[in-house]
Amino acid sequence: MKRIGMGLIGPGFIAPHHIDAVRRLGYVDVVAIAGSSSASAAQKAKLFNVARSYGSYQELIADPDISVIHNTTPSYLHLSVSLAILEAGKHVISDKPLAITAKEGERLRDAAAAAGVVNAVTFNYRGNPLVQQARLMTEREEIGKVFFIHGHYLQDWMTDDTVYSWRSDPTKGGVSSALADIGSHWCDLAEHISSARITAVLADLTTVVKTRYSAGGSAEAFSKDTTVARTPVEVSSEDLASVLVRFDNGAKGCLSVGQVLPGHKNGLEIELNGRTGSVRWNQERQNELWIGRHDQPNAVMGKDPTLMLPGATQYAHLPAGHQESWADAFRNVIGDVYEWVRTGEKPATVCTFSDAYRTCVIIEAMLKSHAAGGVWQEVNVSSGSEQVANRQEAIYGK
Ligand SMILES: NC(=O)c1ccc[n+]([C@@H]2O[C@H](COP(=O)([O-])OP(=O)(O)OC[C@H]3O[C@@H](n4cnc5c(N)ncnc54)[C@H](O)[C@@H]3O)[C@@H](O)[C@H]2O)c1
Repeated sequence: MKRIGMGLIGPGFIAPHHIDAVRRLGYVDVVAIAGSSSASAAQKAKLFNVARSYGSYQELIADPDISVIHNTTPSYLHLSVSLAILEAGKHVISDKPLAITAKEGERLRDAAAAAGVVNAVTFNYRGNPLVQQARLMTEREEIGKVFFIHGHYLQDWMTDDTVYSWRSDPTKGGVSSALADIGSHWCDLAEHISSARITAVLADLTTVVKTRYSAGGSAEAFSKDTTVARTPVEVSSEDLASVLVRFDNGAKGCLSVGQVLPGHKNGLEIELNGRTGSVRWNQERQNELWIGRHDQPNAVMGKDPTLMLPGATQYAHLPAGHQESWADAFRNVIGDVYEWVRTGEKPATVCTFSDAYRTCVIIEAMLKSHAAGGVWQEVNVSSGSEQVANRQEAIYGK
Protein backbone atom coordinates (compact mmCIF):
# COMPACT_ATOMS: atom_id res chain seq x y z
CA MET A 1 0.00 0.00 0.00
CA LYS A 2 1.24 3.48 -0.89
CA ARG A 3 2.57 5.25 2.18
CA ILE A 4 1.12 8.63 3.16
CA GLY A 5 3.12 11.43 4.80
CA MET A 6 1.40 13.18 7.70
CA GLY A 7 2.25 16.31 9.71
CA LEU A 8 0.71 17.74 12.87
CA ILE A 9 0.41 21.36 13.99
CA GLY A 10 -0.24 22.05 17.70
CA PRO A 11 1.47 19.40 19.86
CA GLY A 12 -0.53 19.71 23.10
CA PHE A 13 -2.96 17.42 24.94
CA ILE A 14 -4.85 15.89 22.00
CA ALA A 15 -1.87 15.67 19.61
CA PRO A 16 -0.39 12.32 20.80
CA HIS A 17 -3.79 10.70 20.27
CA HIS A 18 -3.79 11.81 16.62
CA ILE A 19 -0.24 10.51 16.26
CA ASP A 20 -1.07 7.21 17.95
CA ALA A 21 -4.13 6.76 15.72
CA VAL A 22 -2.27 7.29 12.44
CA ARG A 23 0.59 5.05 13.55
CA ARG A 24 -1.90 2.26 14.18
CA LEU A 25 -3.10 2.46 10.57
CA GLY A 26 0.27 1.08 9.45
CA TYR A 27 0.59 2.97 6.14
CA VAL A 28 1.02 6.55 7.44
CA ASP A 29 4.38 8.13 8.27
CA VAL A 30 4.41 10.87 10.91
CA VAL A 31 6.87 13.14 9.10
CA ALA A 32 6.94 16.27 11.28
CA ILE A 33 5.24 18.35 13.93
CA ALA A 34 5.05 22.14 14.28
CA GLY A 35 4.68 23.98 17.59
CA SER A 36 4.47 27.54 18.77
CA SER A 37 8.30 27.79 18.83
CA SER A 38 11.25 25.79 17.48
CA ALA A 39 12.26 24.79 21.01
CA SER A 40 8.80 23.53 22.07
CA ALA A 41 8.33 21.72 18.75
CA ALA A 42 11.73 20.01 19.07
CA GLN A 43 10.96 18.95 22.63
CA LYS A 44 7.56 17.50 21.63
CA ALA A 45 9.04 15.83 18.54
CA LYS A 46 11.48 14.00 20.80
CA LEU A 47 8.67 13.01 23.16
CA PHE A 48 6.50 11.70 20.32
CA ASN A 49 9.44 10.11 18.47
CA VAL A 50 8.98 12.24 15.35
CA ALA A 51 12.06 12.98 13.22
CA ARG A 52 11.35 16.56 12.06
CA SER A 53 10.07 19.59 13.93
CA TYR A 54 9.23 23.13 12.85
CA GLY A 55 8.83 26.37 14.82
CA SER A 56 6.10 27.61 12.49
CA TYR A 57 3.12 25.94 10.84
CA GLN A 58 3.97 27.55 7.48
CA GLU A 59 7.23 25.56 7.36
CA LEU A 60 5.42 22.30 8.05
CA ILE A 61 2.80 23.00 5.39
CA ALA A 62 5.60 23.60 2.87
CA ASP A 63 7.25 20.21 3.61
CA PRO A 64 6.92 18.27 0.33
CA ASP A 65 6.85 14.90 2.14
CA ILE A 66 3.60 15.80 3.89
CA SER A 67 0.22 15.45 2.17
CA VAL A 68 -2.18 15.20 5.15
CA ILE A 69 -2.04 17.76 7.97
CA HIS A 70 -3.70 17.49 11.38
CA ASN A 71 -4.63 20.80 13.02
CA THR A 72 -4.64 20.39 16.82
CA THR A 73 -3.92 24.01 17.71
CA PRO A 74 -6.09 25.91 20.22
CA SER A 75 -9.49 26.63 18.64
CA TYR A 76 -8.80 30.30 17.81
CA LEU A 77 -6.02 29.21 15.45
CA HIS A 78 -8.16 26.70 13.56
CA LEU A 79 -9.20 29.29 10.96
CA SER A 80 -5.75 30.57 10.00
CA VAL A 81 -4.01 27.18 10.18
CA SER A 82 -6.70 25.21 8.30
CA LEU A 83 -7.01 27.96 5.66
CA ALA A 84 -3.25 27.87 5.07
CA ILE A 85 -3.38 24.06 4.70
CA LEU A 86 -6.27 24.29 2.23
CA GLU A 87 -4.57 27.06 0.25
CA ALA A 88 -1.55 24.75 -0.11
CA GLY A 89 -3.90 22.09 -1.56
CA LYS A 90 -3.19 19.57 1.21
CA HIS A 91 -5.69 17.32 2.98
CA VAL A 92 -6.72 18.64 6.40
CA ILE A 93 -7.95 16.97 9.57
CA SER A 94 -8.94 19.55 12.18
CA ASP A 95 -9.83 18.79 15.73
CA LYS A 96 -13.17 20.15 16.90
CA PRO A 97 -14.66 22.69 16.88
CA LEU A 98 -14.08 23.59 13.23
CA ALA A 99 -13.76 27.27 14.24
CA ILE A 100 -14.78 29.60 17.05
CA THR A 101 -17.57 31.36 15.12
CA ALA A 102 -20.07 30.28 12.50
CA LYS A 103 -18.67 32.92 10.13
CA GLU A 104 -15.19 31.40 10.41
CA GLY A 105 -16.68 27.92 10.00
CA GLU A 106 -18.43 29.04 6.83
CA ARG A 107 -15.15 30.38 5.41
CA LEU A 108 -13.48 27.06 6.12
CA ARG A 109 -16.32 25.06 4.61
CA ASP A 110 -16.15 27.16 1.44
CA ALA A 111 -12.34 27.05 1.29
CA ALA A 112 -12.47 23.25 1.60
CA ALA A 113 -14.98 23.14 -1.26
CA ALA A 114 -12.74 25.31 -3.39
CA ALA A 115 -9.65 23.24 -2.59
CA GLY A 116 -11.41 19.94 -3.25
CA VAL A 117 -9.22 18.10 -0.78
CA VAL A 118 -10.18 15.71 2.02
CA ASN A 119 -11.47 17.77 4.95
CA ALA A 120 -12.55 16.30 8.25
CA VAL A 121 -13.18 17.24 11.86
CA THR A 122 -12.54 14.74 14.64
CA PHE A 123 -15.90 14.37 16.34
CA ASN A 124 -14.44 11.13 17.59
CA TYR A 125 -17.46 9.51 19.24
CA ARG A 126 -18.72 8.65 15.76
CA GLY A 127 -16.00 5.98 15.76
CA ASN A 128 -17.45 3.94 18.63
CA PRO A 129 -18.74 0.56 17.42
CA LEU A 130 -22.00 0.81 19.37
CA VAL A 131 -22.60 4.38 18.17
CA GLN A 132 -22.52 2.96 14.66
CA GLN A 133 -24.81 0.12 15.80
CA ALA A 134 -27.28 2.71 17.17
CA ARG A 135 -27.04 4.75 13.94
CA LEU A 136 -27.74 1.72 11.77
CA MET A 137 -30.58 0.49 14.02
CA THR A 138 -32.17 3.93 13.74
CA GLU A 139 -31.64 4.04 9.96
CA ARG A 140 -33.31 0.59 9.63
CA GLU A 141 -36.19 1.86 11.79
CA GLU A 142 -35.58 -0.89 14.36
CA ILE A 143 -36.86 1.55 16.98
CA GLY A 144 -39.56 3.04 14.75
CA LYS A 145 -40.02 6.72 14.08
CA VAL A 146 -37.78 8.69 16.44
CA PHE A 147 -39.61 11.46 18.30
CA PHE A 148 -37.34 12.32 21.26
CA ILE A 149 -33.54 12.70 21.42
CA HIS A 150 -32.07 13.68 24.75
CA GLY A 151 -28.99 13.44 26.88
CA HIS A 152 -26.09 15.26 28.39
CA TYR A 153 -22.37 15.85 28.45
CA LEU A 154 -21.30 16.43 32.06
CA GLN A 155 -17.74 16.98 33.34
CA ASP A 156 -16.09 18.30 36.50
CA TRP A 157 -12.57 19.25 35.39
CA MET A 158 -13.33 22.99 35.55
CA THR A 159 -14.79 22.86 39.07
CA ASP A 160 -11.58 24.26 40.55
CA ASP A 161 -11.27 28.03 39.96
CA THR A 162 -7.53 27.68 39.28
CA VAL A 163 -8.37 25.96 36.00
CA TYR A 164 -7.83 28.64 33.37
CA SER A 165 -6.49 28.31 29.84
CA TRP A 166 -7.25 29.58 26.34
CA ARG A 167 -10.52 27.61 26.59
CA SER A 168 -12.03 30.19 29.01
CA ASP A 169 -10.74 33.20 27.05
CA PRO A 170 -13.42 34.32 24.55
CA THR A 171 -10.78 35.57 22.09
CA LYS A 172 -9.14 32.14 22.02
CA GLY A 173 -11.71 29.54 23.01
CA GLY A 174 -14.62 31.47 21.52
CA VAL A 175 -17.59 33.17 23.20
CA SER A 176 -18.97 29.76 24.14
CA SER A 177 -17.03 27.48 26.47
CA ALA A 178 -18.82 24.30 27.59
CA LEU A 179 -21.22 24.20 24.64
CA ALA A 180 -18.52 24.67 21.99
CA ASP A 181 -16.09 22.36 23.77
CA ILE A 182 -18.32 19.39 24.62
CA GLY A 183 -21.91 20.32 23.74
CA SER A 184 -20.68 20.26 20.14
CA HIS A 185 -19.83 16.54 20.53
CA TRP A 186 -23.41 15.81 21.67
CA CYS A 187 -24.99 17.80 18.82
CA ASP A 188 -22.80 16.07 16.26
CA LEU A 189 -23.65 12.68 17.73
CA ALA A 190 -27.39 13.43 17.83
CA GLU A 191 -27.41 14.39 14.16
CA HIS A 192 -25.10 11.54 13.17
CA ILE A 193 -27.06 8.77 14.92
CA SER A 194 -30.53 10.07 13.98
CA SER A 195 -29.69 11.45 10.50
CA ALA A 196 -32.00 14.31 11.52
CA ARG A 197 -30.84 17.92 11.58
CA ILE A 198 -31.21 20.33 14.49
CA THR A 199 -33.35 23.22 13.22
CA ALA A 200 -34.06 25.30 16.35
CA VAL A 201 -32.80 25.65 19.92
CA LEU A 202 -33.80 27.34 23.16
CA ALA A 203 -30.94 27.75 25.60
CA ASP A 204 -30.41 28.85 29.19
CA LEU A 205 -26.72 29.41 29.99
CA THR A 206 -24.93 30.01 33.28
CA THR A 207 -21.42 30.87 34.42
CA VAL A 208 -21.13 29.15 37.80
CA VAL A 209 -17.45 30.01 38.35
CA LYS A 210 -17.30 33.70 37.51
CA THR A 211 -13.70 34.37 38.56
CA ARG A 212 -10.83 32.07 37.61
CA TYR A 213 -7.14 32.36 38.46
CA SER A 214 -4.85 32.35 35.44
CA ALA A 215 -1.29 31.00 35.43
CA GLY A 216 -0.52 33.05 32.31
CA GLY A 217 -0.88 32.80 28.58
CA SER A 218 1.43 29.85 28.09
CA ALA A 219 -0.67 27.37 30.07
CA GLU A 220 -1.79 24.41 27.95
CA ALA A 221 -5.45 23.56 28.16
CA PHE A 222 -5.20 20.94 30.91
CA SER A 223 -2.20 22.42 32.75
CA LYS A 224 -2.29 21.86 36.53
CA ASP A 225 0.85 23.84 37.29
CA THR A 226 0.51 25.02 40.90
CA THR A 227 3.97 26.62 41.13
CA VAL A 228 3.24 29.78 39.16
CA ALA A 229 1.67 33.02 40.44
CA ARG A 230 -1.93 33.47 39.35
CA THR A 231 -4.02 36.51 38.50
CA PRO A 232 -7.82 36.72 38.74
CA VAL A 233 -9.76 36.80 35.46
CA GLU A 234 -13.51 37.48 35.11
CA VAL A 235 -15.11 34.74 33.04
CA SER A 236 -18.07 35.43 30.77
CA SER A 237 -18.44 32.13 28.90
CA GLU A 238 -20.86 29.46 30.12
CA ASP A 239 -19.82 26.47 32.19
CA LEU A 240 -23.40 25.16 32.49
CA ALA A 241 -26.19 24.99 29.90
CA SER A 242 -29.71 23.59 29.52
CA VAL A 243 -31.00 23.45 25.96
CA LEU A 244 -34.24 22.41 24.25
CA VAL A 245 -33.80 21.21 20.69
CA ARG A 246 -36.04 20.67 17.64
CA PHE A 247 -35.12 18.41 14.73
CA ASP A 248 -36.18 18.57 11.08
CA ASN A 249 -37.94 15.18 11.29
CA GLY A 250 -40.29 16.54 13.94
CA ALA A 251 -38.37 15.03 16.87
CA LYS A 252 -37.91 17.10 20.02
CA GLY A 253 -34.93 16.94 22.33
CA CYS A 254 -33.11 18.31 25.33
CA LEU A 255 -29.51 18.55 26.39
CA SER A 256 -27.63 19.41 29.60
CA VAL A 257 -23.98 20.42 29.41
CA GLY A 258 -21.67 21.35 32.25
CA GLN A 259 -17.99 21.29 33.15
CA VAL A 260 -18.21 22.21 36.86
CA LEU A 261 -20.30 19.27 38.06
CA PRO A 262 -18.41 17.39 40.81
CA GLY A 263 -18.09 13.69 40.14
CA HIS A 264 -18.91 13.80 36.44
CA LYS A 265 -15.82 12.95 34.40
CA ASN A 266 -16.84 12.39 30.79
CA GLY A 267 -20.55 11.77 31.13
CA LEU A 268 -21.61 11.90 27.50
CA GLU A 269 -24.95 10.17 27.11
CA ILE A 270 -27.50 10.13 24.32
CA GLU A 271 -30.89 8.41 24.12
CA LEU A 272 -33.22 8.16 21.16
CA ASN A 273 -36.84 7.18 21.71
CA GLY A 274 -38.75 5.79 18.76
CA ARG A 275 -42.34 4.55 18.56
CA THR A 276 -41.29 0.88 18.92
CA GLY A 277 -38.09 1.09 20.91
CA SER A 278 -35.31 3.16 22.43
CA VAL A 279 -31.52 3.13 22.33
CA ARG A 280 -29.16 4.71 24.84
CA TRP A 281 -25.36 4.99 24.73
CA ASN A 282 -23.12 6.35 27.47
CA GLN A 283 -19.47 6.89 26.63
CA GLU A 284 -18.33 5.94 30.15
CA ARG A 285 -19.86 2.50 29.49
CA GLN A 286 -19.05 2.56 25.81
CA ASN A 287 -19.07 -1.21 25.28
CA GLU A 288 -22.79 -1.36 26.08
CA LEU A 289 -25.89 -0.22 24.22
CA TRP A 290 -29.16 -0.12 26.15
CA ILE A 291 -32.14 -1.16 24.06
CA GLY A 292 -35.55 -0.37 25.54
CA ARG A 293 -38.82 -2.06 24.54
CA HIS A 294 -42.40 -1.51 25.67
CA ASP A 295 -43.66 -5.04 24.90
CA GLN A 296 -40.50 -7.09 25.48
CA PRO A 297 -37.80 -7.15 28.15
CA ASN A 298 -35.21 -4.42 27.87
CA ALA A 299 -31.72 -5.51 26.84
CA VAL A 300 -28.13 -4.39 27.16
CA MET A 301 -26.21 -5.29 24.04
CA GLY A 302 -22.53 -5.79 24.70
CA LYS A 303 -20.12 -4.82 21.95
CA ASP A 304 -19.87 -8.03 19.91
CA PRO A 305 -18.78 -7.99 16.27
CA THR A 306 -20.65 -11.25 15.63
CA LEU A 307 -23.98 -9.73 16.72
CA MET A 308 -23.64 -6.18 15.46
CA LEU A 309 -25.13 -4.98 12.18
CA PRO A 310 -23.05 -5.06 8.99
CA GLY A 311 -21.56 -1.60 8.72
CA ALA A 312 -20.90 -1.45 12.46
CA THR A 313 -18.80 -4.59 12.82
CA GLN A 314 -15.67 -3.12 11.24
CA TYR A 315 -15.48 -0.60 14.08
CA ALA A 316 -14.93 -3.41 16.61
CA HIS A 317 -11.43 -4.90 16.54
CA LEU A 318 -11.70 -7.37 19.41
CA PRO A 319 -14.09 -10.24 20.18
CA ALA A 320 -16.98 -9.79 22.62
CA GLY A 321 -15.95 -9.36 26.24
CA HIS A 322 -12.77 -7.46 25.44
CA GLN A 323 -13.35 -3.79 26.18
CA GLU A 324 -12.63 -1.24 23.45
CA SER A 325 -11.99 2.33 24.30
CA TRP A 326 -11.82 6.03 23.48
CA ALA A 327 -8.49 5.59 21.69
CA ASP A 328 -9.88 2.74 19.55
CA ALA A 329 -12.84 4.89 18.48
CA PHE A 330 -10.45 7.76 17.72
CA ARG A 331 -8.41 5.42 15.56
CA ASN A 332 -11.59 4.37 13.72
CA VAL A 333 -12.43 7.99 12.89
CA ILE A 334 -8.89 8.69 11.70
CA GLY A 335 -8.91 5.40 9.74
CA ASP A 336 -12.06 6.44 7.87
CA VAL A 337 -10.57 9.83 6.97
CA TYR A 338 -7.43 8.18 5.58
CA GLU A 339 -9.63 5.75 3.67
CA TRP A 340 -11.07 8.85 1.97
CA VAL A 341 -7.51 10.12 1.30
CA ARG A 342 -6.51 6.73 -0.20
CA THR A 343 -9.58 5.97 -2.28
CA GLY A 344 -11.34 9.27 -2.89
CA GLU A 345 -14.49 7.73 -1.40
CA LYS A 346 -15.82 9.35 1.75
CA PRO A 347 -17.10 6.87 4.35
CA ALA A 348 -20.51 7.83 5.82
CA THR A 349 -18.97 8.23 9.24
CA VAL A 350 -16.61 11.10 8.36
CA CYS A 351 -17.54 14.53 9.71
CA THR A 352 -16.66 17.01 6.94
CA PHE A 353 -16.01 20.74 7.30
CA SER A 354 -19.53 21.19 5.97
CA ASP A 355 -21.00 19.01 8.76
CA ALA A 356 -18.85 20.71 11.40
CA TYR A 357 -19.86 24.15 10.14
CA ARG A 358 -23.45 23.13 10.98
CA THR A 359 -22.34 22.46 14.55
CA CYS A 360 -20.77 25.95 14.77
CA VAL A 361 -24.11 27.44 13.65
CA ILE A 362 -26.03 25.33 16.19
CA ILE A 363 -23.79 26.46 19.07
CA GLU A 364 -24.06 30.08 17.96
CA ALA A 365 -27.87 29.75 17.81
CA MET A 366 -27.76 28.57 21.45
CA LEU A 367 -25.78 31.69 22.42
CA LYS A 368 -28.24 33.90 20.53
CA SER A 369 -31.22 32.17 22.14
CA HIS A 370 -29.83 32.81 25.62
CA ALA A 371 -28.82 36.41 24.82
CA ALA A 372 -32.37 37.11 23.62
CA GLY A 373 -33.73 36.01 26.99
CA GLY A 374 -34.33 32.33 26.27
CA VAL A 375 -36.36 32.27 23.08
CA TRP A 376 -36.45 29.76 20.23
CA GLN A 377 -33.68 30.49 17.77
CA GLU A 378 -33.54 28.97 14.30
CA VAL A 379 -30.39 27.25 13.10
CA ASN A 380 -29.70 29.13 9.87
CA VAL A 381 -27.06 27.28 7.91
CA SER A 382 -25.93 29.19 4.83
CA SER A 383 -26.07 27.34 1.54
CA GLY A 384 -22.90 25.94 0.07
CA SER A 385 -22.94 22.29 1.12
CA GLU A 386 -23.92 21.23 -2.39
CA GLN A 387 -20.99 23.16 -3.72
CA VAL A 388 -18.75 20.99 -1.50
CA ALA A 389 -20.32 17.79 -2.77
CA ASN A 390 -20.18 18.91 -6.40
CA ARG A 391 -16.57 19.96 -6.16
CA GLN A 392 -15.61 16.66 -4.54
CA GLU A 393 -17.48 14.82 -7.27
CA ALA A 394 -15.52 16.79 -9.84
CA ILE A 395 -12.21 15.90 -8.18
CA TYR A 396 -12.95 12.24 -7.54
CA GLY A 397 -15.10 11.70 -10.60
CA LYS A 398 -18.22 10.40 -8.84
N1 LIG B 1 -11.73 15.48 20.02
C1 LIG B 1 -11.65 15.69 21.30
O1 LIG B 1 -12.31 15.03 22.10
C2 LIG B 1 -10.75 16.78 21.81
C3 LIG B 1 -10.19 16.69 23.10
C4 LIG B 1 -9.34 17.72 23.50
C5 LIG B 1 -9.07 18.79 22.65
N2 LIG B 1 -9.67 18.87 21.44
C6 LIG B 1 -9.44 20.03 20.55
O2 LIG B 1 -8.09 20.03 20.14
C7 LIG B 1 -7.60 21.36 20.05
C8 LIG B 1 -6.37 21.49 20.96
O3 LIG B 1 -6.77 21.23 22.29
P1 LIG B 1 -5.71 20.73 23.39
O4 LIG B 1 -6.52 20.35 24.57
O5 LIG B 1 -4.77 19.75 22.80
O6 LIG B 1 -4.97 22.11 23.68
P2 LIG B 1 -3.51 22.33 24.28
O7 LIG B 1 -3.50 23.73 24.76
O8 LIG B 1 -3.13 21.22 25.21
O9 LIG B 1 -2.58 22.18 23.01
C9 LIG B 1 -2.47 23.14 21.97
C10 LIG B 1 -1.04 23.11 21.44
O10 LIG B 1 -0.93 24.01 20.33
C11 LIG B 1 0.31 24.71 20.48
N3 LIG B 1 0.27 25.96 19.72
C12 LIG B 1 -0.17 27.18 20.12
N4 LIG B 1 0.02 28.08 19.14
C13 LIG B 1 0.58 27.42 18.09
C14 LIG B 1 1.02 27.80 16.79
N5 LIG B 1 0.92 29.06 16.35
N6 LIG B 1 1.57 26.86 15.99
C15 LIG B 1 1.68 25.58 16.41
N7 LIG B 1 1.30 25.16 17.63
C16 LIG B 1 0.74 26.06 18.47
C17 LIG B 1 0.44 24.92 21.98
O11 LIG B 1 1.76 25.24 22.34
C18 LIG B 1 0.00 23.55 22.49
O12 LIG B 1 1.08 22.66 22.48
C19 LIG B 1 -8.75 22.27 20.48
O13 LIG B 1 -9.38 22.80 19.36
C20 LIG B 1 -9.69 21.35 21.25
O14 LIG B 1 -11.05 21.74 21.16
C21 LIG B 1 -10.49 17.87 21.00
